[in-house]
Amino acid sequence: MADGKQLVCLDDFMARAKDTLPTPVWEYYSSGADEENTLRENRKAYRRYWLKPRVLRDVSVIDMATNVLGERIAMPICISPTALHGLAHPEAEIATCKAAAEMGTAMIMSAFSSKSLEEIATLRPKSIKWQNVYTWSDREVTKDMIARAERAGFKAIVISVDVPVFGIKRRLTKLGGLAMIITLQSFGNLDKYIGKDLRIGEHFPPELETSCLASTWKYIAWVKTMTRLPVILKGIMTVEDALLAAEHKVQGIVVSNHGGRQLDGVPASIDVLSDIVDAVGDRLEVYVDGGIRTGTDVLKALALGARAVFIGRPVVYGLTSNGEEGVKTVLQILGDELSRAMALTGCSRISDISRDLLSKADQWSKL
Ligand code: LAC
Repeated sequence: MADGKQLVCLDDFMARAKDTLPTPVWEYYSSGADEENTLRENRKAYRRYWLKPRVLRDVSVIDMATNVLGERIAMPICISPTALHGLAHPEAEIATCKAAAEMGTAMIMSAFSSKSLEEIATLRPKSIKWQNVYTWSDREVTKDMIARAERAGFKAIVISVDVPVFGIKRRLTKLGGLAMIITLQSFGNLDKYIGKDLRIGEHFPPELETSCLASTWKYIAWVKTMTRLPVILKGIMTVEDALLAAEHKVQGIVVSNHGGRQLDGVPASIDVLSDIVDAVGDRLEVYVDGGIRTGTDVLKALALGARAVFIGRPVVYGLTSNGEEGVKTVLQILGDELSRAMALTGCSRISDISRDLLSKADQWSKL
């Protein structure tokens, strides 16, 4: 590393990204909505759960492998969709995809990626890639992207359901929005609609605007009729909506508050996870993202019932530091930390991880 300092944890990658990224790019990636209460809470909440380790169990071999939608992954740590990886590294999602494949895990390609889904489809044909779409008011945009994802061998469609409108990131807005840095960037999946040279700010062309009318359960029912791929809803935060998701027969949900970037004032995703898991049972798979930065965070999320966790910003920060290698290192560190946490709590397989591992700190309000 340039300054000779080794990056040993995910927070180190964040600090490095803050030092190296152009300020508006850093603000875009790191910002949360409004006062950023939810952004902070996503991280703080994990510290309120304490672990109850079991000792003297055979942990000589730790197996982190698990399945998502029936596909095997080497560890339950996958990649959440984040926009415009080209702002972090020239190889953008190509580097991210290779790193995910190398680590044997799944990646959700953002609808607002820098590269096109076709560009990453054939890089590592066997790696698990899911395509993210939004509830665009022009259904043809959604239909077309889903058809492309199917043709390209993606394994699932992930609909961001928490964006009837975009949250306002004040830190970014103060700098004049994304427009000032984005002129050389293209949205690889949406070129057809945006045009490579168009100046794009906080506002998207009309056909890409999400709208309140489009973001309804009818939209989900419609998507279900037009794809043979499993459908996952990302951005579920209540038991009520999780039950509706099950009624709509989607195959999975990501319990997520969009990394604190949409509605400020919602709880940490980890704090609503277990009620949702209990309510939906085995009707669909439940994943979680938001605030996961250590192996013990992953362990806690799995103990509360997540089948796998997803990480967003740390991937972008890994990309910033060293492209594919950087993302690989981030995944490696988190995987190693999870493996160690499993050994130290007496779990040799993912199926050994249960709610018995957890107690919630009674003095959490002092944290
Ligand atoms: C964001 C948009 C892309 O969070 O959903 O920046």
